[in-house]
Amino acid sequence: MANDPTTKTLAELGVSESAEVSRWFDEVRAQFAAETSVPADEQRWEGLRAAWLGRKSGVLTRITENWLKTSPATLRPAVGKSLNELRAYVEGRLDDYQQIARAAAEQAALARERVDLSLPGAVRPIGSRHLLRQTFAEIERIFLSLGFTVVEGPEIETPYYNFEALNIPEYHPARDTMDTFYLETPPGAPQRLLRTHTSPMQIHIMEKQAPPVRIIVPGKVYRRDNPDATHSYVFHQVEGLAVDTDITFCEFKGTVEHFVHEFLGPAAKTRLRPSYFPFTEPSVEVDASCFACGGSGCRLCKFSGWIELFGAGMVDPAVYGFVNYDATRLSGYAFGLGVDRLSQLKYGIDDVQLFFQNDVRFLRQFP
Ligand code: PHE
Repeated sequence: MANDPTTKTLAELGVSESAEVSRWFDEVRAQFAAETSVPADEQRWEGLRAAWLGRKSGVLTRITENWLKTSPATLRPAVGKSLNELRAYVEGRLDDYQQIARAAAEQAALARERVDLSLPGAVRPIGSRHLLRQTFAEIERIFLSLGFTVVEGPEIETPYYNFEALNIPEYHPARDTMDTFYLETPPGAPQRLLRTHTSPMQIHIMEKQAPPVRIIVPGKVYRRDNPDATHSYVFHQVEGLAVDTDITFCEFKGTVEHFVHEFLGPAAKTRLRPSYFPFTEPSVEVDASCFACGGSGCRLCKFSGWIELFGAGMVDPAVYGFVNYDATRLSGYAFGLGVDRLSQLKYGIDDVQLFFQNDVRFLRQFP
């Protein structure tokens, strides 16, 4: 307040009548009204309260000191009355002012913290299982529903499990067809290799477990192939083995047909073609009718109408000899599904390298 009258006494202001007293009080009240006409905020309210009601130096304290206490007895009742009215007015108005300031602060906070629940959320890409994993899961689902159990085995093997016990002796030509990665081993230590198929798990399981056996073995296998659209030096198989006292070729054929229908759809037909594996007899190659052309012949099936799916056969009795199973009492079948190939066929993928490049543009297509 410029030229603040409350810093002076009434005598200094030249007041001698009660009418002049109320004139000065009106002036002070007008000043207060002006100061509280500014939009309310809590900080301003604090400031006004200190300036007007502060015990030591507030305006009302000054009026008490400078006007009331020094006033002549004739004016004192008028000063006292006006002072009380002014105090009531200031206190009441400051209360209102505080309410308004609080409400404004609350509104501001609400506006600041407003959450629009109708806004779509930020969608983070969460990724998905790799297509090969999806294919593994699909194959496992089909065989689990037939009563098979899933087991896994080591990728590093000995020649005994990978070859010998599967009826592939050392100089057998079948060893040449599986270009094998041998590991470096110290002189005198047993030879180690990366398994070229999941079949060694047939031996491990039968060594450990008495018949009946019904297992599938998903896993990685390794061969020294030159990488191209259909070859890779690491690929994936699911081995299957069922051994019991009365398993026939018929059961084997039914299982294979069931698998093909479940995996490629009910329209797919199956064909068994004679083949050769040292550890199965008879051995077959399982073909499915080409799902691209339905069997009429197209580029995918090289115009034969059929697509080669996997190798299989009845377990060769010679294999039972390696695991002390009674070949006169037992029979069974085995198969080795090429997961990469099945996946390529089912999802129309023309290059196996896509499985290993982890290009998100490829992966995203199989959520
Ligand atoms: N292990 C064979 C391969 O990788 C496939 C196979 C498995 C064949 C089981 C017959 C029985 O080629």
